[in-house]
Amino acid sequence: MSDSLGFNKIAGALLATGLVIIGLGVGTKILFEYKAPAKEGYAIAVQEESAGGGAAVEQPIDWGTELPKADVAAGKAVAAKCQSCHNLDQGGPNQTGPNLWGVLGRQPGSHPGFAYSDGMKAFGAKQPTWDYVHINDFITAPGKYIDGTKMTFVGLKQRQDRINIIAYLHTLGSNLPIPAPNPAAAAAPAAASGAPASGAPAAASAAASAAPEKGAPAEKAAAAK
Ligand code: HEC
Repeated sequence: MSDSLGFNKIAGALLATGLVIIGLGVGTKILFEYKAPAKEGYAIAVQEESAGGGAAVEQPIDWGTELPKADVAAGKAVAAKCQSCHNLDQGGPNQTGPNLWGVLGRQPGSHPGFAYSDGMKAFGAKQPTWDYVHINDFITAPGKYIDGTKMTFVGLKQRQDRINIIAYLHTLGSNLPIPAPNPAAAAAPAAASGAPASGAPAAASAAASAAPEKGAPAEKAAAAK
């Protein structure tokens, strides 16, 4: 009797120890699980940065080809991100950022009544106009492109988002001419995306679907123009 009681006590003690060990294990696991998201979050931030930096070497955009077929409505939707800081109306106020009506074609850092950063002023001194190329580079990763800019916006990683938003900005009182398409530069993006998305008329898509391979759409689109 007293023997089995002793056994029970020992068994109980072992069981308790086991539970504590398991508990520790779970606890440790939880600790690690808490760490993991923190690490992932950091990794994403790094990725974003390198994507922004990498965008500097992304395939050049052929504005003469891309702007006419850009999705202006989608660009307007993306511009909601800008409107927390920018007013886009003609004659609208400066807010956290300067009013952006007619920004394409105007000199960087030149909108009346806005206190630009020294970085933006210096940029405007060497770059006389916000053209497609420079505004694209800027909104890809503002802080990386212009040292000391006050625009604390992470940037738009997606190439098509930038094309669409720039096409939309172009509708807002800009008289910056759209350059002629540069076929050499245009060929590469068309081939890369497989098919011209919205630019191709129905006839071209029908013809393209009859074609055996994917390589043809660029030619078909050109033929359809
Ligand atoms: C968090 C606020 C904020 C957001 C969001 C923001 N901006 Fe800005 N933006 C600024 C500020 C502040 C400046 C002035 C920068 C300076 O002086 O360095 C600026 C400047 C600019 C300029 C230069 C204007 C000029 O007169 O030279 C352009 C172009 C611009 N922003 C475009 C955009 C676009 C496009 C978006 C959306 C994709 C956007 N910004 C989102 C705050 C913002």
